[in-house]
Amino acid sequence: MPKIKDIPKIDRPREKFLQKGADALSKSDLLAILLGSGIKGKNVRQLSENIIKKFGKNFLNITVDDLVEISGIGQAKALQIASAISLVKRFYADEKSNEIIIKNSQDVLSLTYDLRDKKKEHLVCLYLNARNSLLKKEIISVGLLDKALLHPREIFYPATELNAASVILIHNHPSGDSSPSEKDNQIVEKIVQAGEIMGIPVVDFIIVSENNHYSFYEKLKKQKEGFDYIADGIQGTLFAMFEAEKPAYEITAEKIQENYFYIPQVKKNHIQLHNRRYIGNKHKLLEWIFSIINKECSGDFFADIFAGTGVVSAVATKHFNHVLLNDFLHSNYAIYRAFFGNEVWDKNKIDNIIKSYNNIYSDDLDENYFSKKFGGKFFSSNSAKIIGFIRENIEKNKNNLTEREYYMLIASLLYTADKIANTVGHFDAYFKKELTNDSFFMKPIDPINVQEISIFQEDANILAKKIKVDVAYIDPPYNSRQYSRFYHVLETLTKWDKPKLYGVALKPEPENMSDYCRNNAKDKFAELVRDLDAQYLVISYNNTYDSKSNSSRNKITLQEIEKILQTKGSTKVFEKNYRHFNAGNTNFNNHKEYLFVTKAKT
Ligand SMILES: C[S@@+](CC[C@H](N)C(=O)[O-])C[C@H]1O[C@@H](n2cnc3c(N)ncnc32)[C@H](O)[C@@H]1O
Repeated sequence: MPKIKDIPKIDRPREKFLQKGADALSKSDLLAILLGSGIKGKNVRQLSENIIKKFGKNFLNITVDDLVEISGIGQAKALQIASAISLVKRFYADEKSNEIIIKNSQDVLSLTYDLRDKKKEHLVCLYLNARNSLLKKEIISVGLLDKALLHPREIFYPATELNAASVILIHNHPSGDSSPSEKDNQIVEKIVQAGEIMGIPVVDFIIVSENNHYSFYEKLKKQKEGFDYIADGIQGTLFAMFEAEKPAYEITAEKIQENYFYIPQVKKNHIQLHNRRYIGNKHKLLEWIFSIINKECSGDFFADIFAGTGVVSAVATKHFNHVLLNDFLHSNYAIYRAFFGNEVWDKNKIDNIIKSYNNIYSDDLDENYFSKKFGGKFFSSNSAKIIGFIRENIEKNKNNLTEREYYMLIASLLYTADKIANTVGHFDAYFKKELTNDSFFMKPIDPINVQEISIFQEDANILAKKIKVDVAYIDPPYNSRQYSRFYHVLETLTKWDKPKLYGVALKPEPENMSDYCRNNAKDKFAELVRDLDAQYLVISYNNTYDSKSNSSRNKITLQEIEKILQTKGSTKVFEKNYRHFNAGNTNFNNHKEYLFVTKAKT
């Protein structure tokens, strides 16, 4: 019989626990740690496997007597196991007895009593499970409640993370009057609709003042039925009550899409398209951008010709039948093919490959291109070894993968590498002090459902000559920071041509250097505008022109953009205050994002 010391080091339960954490261990591995050693003829793993098999689901009810019946388990070991079980049960019971069940508005009020004295308006959310047990109480906003400023995402994003079944909102009126204002009514309507769409119903919205309260639930519920909330997974929703109250209450599909589609539908343990660090990404501006596009533009075909992370295209797929993505970076192209592709792929296959990648231990690996170049610099030595090994493995297995599967694995690896990189978010430099971040853990991506999609990896000005679209969204770089240089490690990882690298930041020979980061940016932009065959041009730009740092100074002025657009048609300009990426030298007082919408002359 093999002894535990004969098992390779990486498979030993204790080492595995220390390297990967408890979640990586099977039940019998965990029990093996508790048992410590095996008996004659059975190593500790076999012994624990026998015990788990023997008691199965009854494990938590095992007694000392049951245990000593197993050959090799003496009283001391039996006591050890039985005590551990009792300890867990005890804590579990304590936790359960702390459960707070919210039965009605009075329970809510007693939990939020402190709000009555607050001098500023607060919005607080209670997250409940299917039995109306409180999962979390969270302050959503402080200060005047305004429909325009409050985004449903702030309420429902934590709800999805907590797996909440429903929410209750409480808002205070420092004025002393608890009756809802027109603004309150609008906010309730917005949140209630969003909850309905998200499948996380809003059970009640309560307004409190110093001596009074107003509950929408109580107001809408017929008093004779009592005021208790409904639980057990069939929570009464304010949405349904509004509908019953007001048959003319309208919630059109268009309105839903316009307002709420960008709330991420978080699929646990999956990578979402926006889960990466990328300079100039528009993730936080999507609501603003699309509120304008939806109003100002029409048509079926949307082209995102400097697509970056692709988040703008992701929203465009909800509004346009055909979406085109383009960016000249290799890593972005791979990510688009993975998330937006419509070719076949096998979910089980991808999940299993990723699972096997997560079981790789760096101690078992030889150094490789990636670890030799980037280990101890952009990544911890261990993580770099694993990343390099996996990338090589994907390449070797290419023939067994569909193209979509190939790009899906590369995209997962790119996101994972970005997450654990020893950087501020780009690869122009790494922290001098090596991170001991060995937490390599790869997750599958959560692809986006699309209708018609076109994916390109071309220079935008060359592509512009070849396409005819309804809306062309143009979001070029604004300053001299070259994206291909900032994300060179991701480029190298995608191309996997193992280039010679130069300088402290270990960059390859320059490739895909953008004219939009150079002094001829204005001329390139003029050429692009001239060549694009589109009904509408939508241009994002910002006003960092006043920047103290050369590298973050705009390459085209806002006036120049307007002048160039005049040649194409009539232009409307929209602006918004926004904070953005800052490498330290940029003064972003007054920082504004601009959106130019030009309707082309026919
Ligand atoms: C401001 S970012 C776009 C951000 C994007 N809208 C998002 O939300 O993530 C500009 C992008 O243009 C790409 N790019 C720069 N010059 C290009 C060119 N000449 N042709 C194609 N892509 C270019 C860069 O790689 C970068 O991803």
